[in-house]
Amino acid sequence: MAADATVKVEGERPGGPAGPVTLVIFGASGDLTKRKLLPALYALAHDRLLPERFAIIGFARREKTSEAFRDEMRADVEQFSRLRPVRAEVWDRLARGLYYVTGPFEDSAGYERLRDLLQERERDNGAGRNRVYYLATPPEAYPVIVGRLGAAGLVTEAWDGPDEDAPGAGWSRIIVEKPFGRDLDTARALNADLHRVFRERQVYRIDHYLGKETVQNILTFRFGNSIFEPLWNRRYVDHVQLLVGEDLGVESRGGYYDSAGAMRDMVQNHMLQLLSLVAMEPPATFEADAVRDEKVKVLRAIRPIPVEPDQDRTVRGQYVSGLLRGKKIAAYADEPGVGEETSTETYAALRLEIDNWRWAGVPFYLRTGKALPKRVTEVTIQYRRPPLRLFEHAPHPGHQPGDEIEPNRLTLRIQPDEGISLRVGLKPPGPRISLVPARLGFAYHETFGAEPAEAYERLLLDCMLGDATLFIRRDEVETAWALVTPVLEAWAAAGRTGLTYYPAGSWGPKEADRFIQADGREWVNP
Ligand code: BG6
Repeated sequence: MAADATVKVEGERPGGPAGPVTLVIFGASGDLTKRKLLPALYALAHDRLLPERFAIIGFARREKTSEAFRDEMRADVEQFSRLRPVRAEVWDRLARGLYYVTGPFEDSAGYERLRDLLQERERDNGAGRNRVYYLATPPEAYPVIVGRLGAAGLVTEAWDGPDEDAPGAGWSRIIVEKPFGRDLDTARALNADLHRVFRERQVYRIDHYLGKETVQNILTFRFGNSIFEPLWNRRYVDHVQLLVGEDLGVESRGGYYDSAGAMRDMVQNHMLQLLSLVAMEPPATFEADAVRDEKVKVLRAIRPIPVEPDQDRTVRGQYVSGLLRGKKIAAYADEPGVGEETSTETYAALRLEIDNWRWAGVPFYLRTGKALPKRVTEVTIQYRRPPLRLFEHAPHPGHQPGDEIEPNRLTLRIQPDEGISLRVGLKPPGPRISLVPARLGFAYHETFGAEPAEAYERLLLDCMLGDATLFIRRDEVETAWALVTPVLEAWAAAGRTGLTYYPAGSWGPKEADRFIQADGREWVNP
């Protein structure tokens, strides 16, 4: 697996450019728009992946002209784009199609202005009525916006209909940001609201983890090679760990985070998505529904998580003040926006069992936390130990007397330093035959000579192209909520009872170490 020459991928980008379309962003003065969406659109423009005839309409409450919106967006792209300095000719190309509409989300007058502008742009662009609506607002506004779009007749739909090719026919899609509900009931209600106006195939529920290049690499690695898949099951795998560590506290997001917590913020969405890619069966084709059918089967096969205290399969923790990379971090409870009596978890660890033929008896340990020592997302597949101990285990750094031979361990590093590595036992130099651990590895930047693109670039483009493979289907989101909702309810009922604490800058509460040690295993801390 050692990296050979740099692989050239330029010009080989699959998909794109997209056909004519107008993108309407609700919540255009928010953080997501400036930090992620506009920089992603700029990068797509840079790579000539946007349609020739393209317009972006920002829609938000704040009064603003289109000129002012363009100026602000340019400053934001200059600050947040991965492709800096910003190239004037690329920006100008993008900015020519950038417009702004002011309006409260609940007021129909704004949607009338939006309709006029859409019609004007679509006429000038000579394009069909192809529209992507992006909900980048606080989630309370989602049902209102969806209802208003429907009432204003802004949702065009001519997919596979008899008049698909009729002049002026078009399609509409909607991208829905997280959080998608806050438990099973609210997620179902939101789905019902969406389905009053959009059909399921028009709904693109986004999880930006699925847009990460290395998350997609899980699928290519598993199903584009013949040598790993035979070993990807209960016969060979001892257990699997998923870690999403963040080396920041909640900073200015205390208000939002205190009503969410790690389980809602990371586990229900990003981590269960990762898990489903790691654990799914090979799909028959790489089409959206074939892939999502297999993902949802995994989610359905996860055994309900027991919540009784005596058989707890979870640990929840909250950080107290501590040192993170030499800097003092305040306790979560003291962060602005956090309630005084907070019992919100900033750390969660879970042991999940997948009751299917492939995985029965193989625990999946999930762990995520704020204010950990490192920002790192990693999947570790730990294999069983060899059945016989033929060789001695030579001392090496980290070796403890009496250590067992280290089992093989496959690490999929999602971020940073994207790559894949396999730990094997090899003979060190010298006359004795003994074993030391060594690594075979693939590093993304060495092989491809570039850093991976931002997740939103891929996802925005896929939606414009009509490819929903990397978006979450209704049954997936509801199944994921069905799994975690009982845990959230039990935690809410218990309040601070059972909540554990860890200093910022540590790998989480001691209770989490004991939790995995009770199974005779250890966390893999990068
Ligand atoms: C978001 C969460 O969905 O993902 C944040 O709301 C978290 O709390 C972020 O920090 C992590 O994303 P990434 O891409 O930086 O790993």
